[in-house]
Amino acid sequence: MKVLSVASEVYPLIKTGGLADVAGALPISLDKLKVETRTLLPGYSRVLAALDRVEPVLDFADLLGEQARLLSARHAGLDLLVLECPALYERDGGPYLGPDGKDYPDNWKRFGALSLAGARIAQGLIPGWKPDLVHVHDWQAALVPVFMRYALEPEIPSLITIHNIAFQGHFGPDVVAALGLPPHAFGEALEYYGGTSFLKGGLVTAHALSTVSPSYAEEILTPEFGMGLEGVIASRADALYGIVNGIDTDVWNPATDKDIAGTYAPATLKKRAANRLKLQEHFGLEQDGRPIFSIISRLTWQKGMDVLAEVADDLVADGGSLVILGSGDAELETALQAAVSRHPGRIGMQIGYNEPLSHLMQAGADAIVIPSRFEPCGLTQLYGLRYGCVPVVARTGGLNDTIIDANEAALGGAAATGIQFTSVSRQGLRQALRRAIRLFHDTKTWQQIQKQGMKTDVSWSLSARRYVDLYNRLLEKG
Ligand code: ADP
Ligand code: GLC
Repeated sequence: MKVLSVASEVYPLIKTGGLADVAGALPISLDKLKVETRTLLPGYSRVLAALDRVEPVLDFADLLGEQARLLSARHAGLDLLVLECPALYERDGGPYLGPDGKDYPDNWKRFGALSLAGARIAQGLIPGWKPDLVHVHDWQAALVPVFMRYALEPEIPSLITIHNIAFQGHFGPDVVAALGLPPHAFGEALEYYGGTSFLKGGLVTAHALSTVSPSYAEEILTPEFGMGLEGVIASRADALYGIVNGIDTDVWNPATDKDIAGTYAPATLKKRAANRLKLQEHFGLEQDGRPIFSIISRLTWQKGMDVLAEVADDLVADGGSLVILGSGDAELETALQAAVSRHPGRIGMQIGYNEPLSHLMQAGADAIVIPSRFEPCGLTQLYGLRYGCVPVVARTGGLNDTIIDANEAALGGAAATGIQFTSVSRQGLRQALRRAIRLFHDTKTWQQIQKQGMKTDVSWSLSARRYVDLYNRLLEKG
C-alpha cells in the first residue's frame, strides 16, 4: 500500500509540538507493516538547510500563482517530498509565525499551496508513484481532500487526523476563489460563521476522520471540547476514529540516550541519580532529596500553565522542587518567572525550546506534571513513562487513556503508572502534587510505579496496526 502523508511539521526537521513527532515516527512503523509512506512538507529554510541530498522531482509553473518545485529526499528513515517555494516558505521566523510572533498574513496561501500540491500528487502527478490513500494532518493539510473533491477529480480515499481542534485555520471568505475552488465549495464544506475554515473543509470532505486518542474522539463531540466544530464532527460520527499516539522508542530510549548524563534501564534505576544531579546543577536547585517535578511544555492556557503558576508556592511549601522548560504566552512566562524569583534553589526555569534538555529532564526529574485543560493525546507523559519520570496528569483526552492512576486498586495490583486528577484548579493540582510527594517518599511503591511505567508499551507498534486497519477499510470502500 502506498500512502501520501501531508504535514506542516516533521521531526527531526521542523517541530513546534507533538504533530512533528507523530508525522516523523508513524511512517517508520508503517513501513514495517508494508505501508510505503511518502511525506509531503513545506520547504522551510530550516528544512532545506538540514537536507544534504535532494533530487528535483517536478516543477509547478503555477501553484496558486507561485513557482514551486517538488524535491525528494531521504532523511532520518523518512521518504520525503519537499515543496520548495521560496516566496512562501523561505522566511525568518517559525513555520506559522513571523519574527513578530504573529501569524503570517498569507498562511492561507502557504498551506493552501501545500494542500494543492498534495492533491496533485494524489492524482498521480509523480511519474511512477501514485498513492492509494492520502493521510493529512491538522488544518494546514486539510484542503487536500477539499481540492480532490472540488477541483482535481478523481478522488482517492483520504483520512484527516485532528491533532488539536483548537487550531482551525480561519480566513476570510475571499480565499476560496483565490485558492481556485468553485463557489459551492464554500457553502458545502468551507464556510464557518461567514469565513473560511480549512479544518472544517477537511472534516466535511475526508473519507474518514481520526483524532489522537479514544477519549478525545468522544470529547470533541461535545460543545466544551469541540470548539465550535462539534456539530460538524457529530455529522461524521460514523467515520470518526480515536487512535492513541505512540512514540519513537529509538529516539526516546533511556538505555541509549546520548543527551543524558547516565543511561539506565528498569533494572538499573539507581543510575538515574547522575541525571538528577546534572538537572539540579543545570537549574541551580539545591541538591537535596526533595522530589523534582518537571514541566516540558508550551506555556499556554490549554496546558494549564496559569494553574501551575498559582500552585508553585504551595508545591515548595509542601516539600517539592520544580523545573520548567518551555515558551509561550508572555504573561504566563512572567508569572512563572516571578515564582522562580520567590524560590531560588527550589524552582528553576529555562524559557525556550531545547530538545536535548527535554531528554535530560525526563531522565533526571522524578515526575512530569501535565495539568492540561484539554489534551488530544499528549506525548510528554509517554516519554515520562519510558524514562521512569512519573506522570502527574489531568484526567482528560489522551492523558486519561495512557496513564493508570495510583489508586488503591491499581497500587494493589501493581498496575499504577502515574497520578491523575480531575479538577484543573489550584486545589485540584495541589492535592495531586501532595499525593505524588507522599508516594515519592514511599520509595518501594514509587519504584514500582516507575518500573510499571517503563514496562508499558508506548511504541507505535499497536497504533500503527490500527492505522493500517483503518487504511484498509477505506480502500475497501473505495
Ligand atoms: P503539544 O503538541 O500540544 O505541544 P505534545 O505533548 O503532544 O503537546 O508534544 C509536545 C512535544 O514538544 C513533545 O515532544 C515535547 O517534548 C516537546 N516540547 C514542548 N516544549 C518543549 C521545549 N520547550 N523544549 C523542547 N521540547 C519541547
Ligand atoms: C497536538 C496536541 C497533543 C498531541 C499532538 C500530537 O499538538 O495538543 O495533545 O499529542 O498534537 O498528536
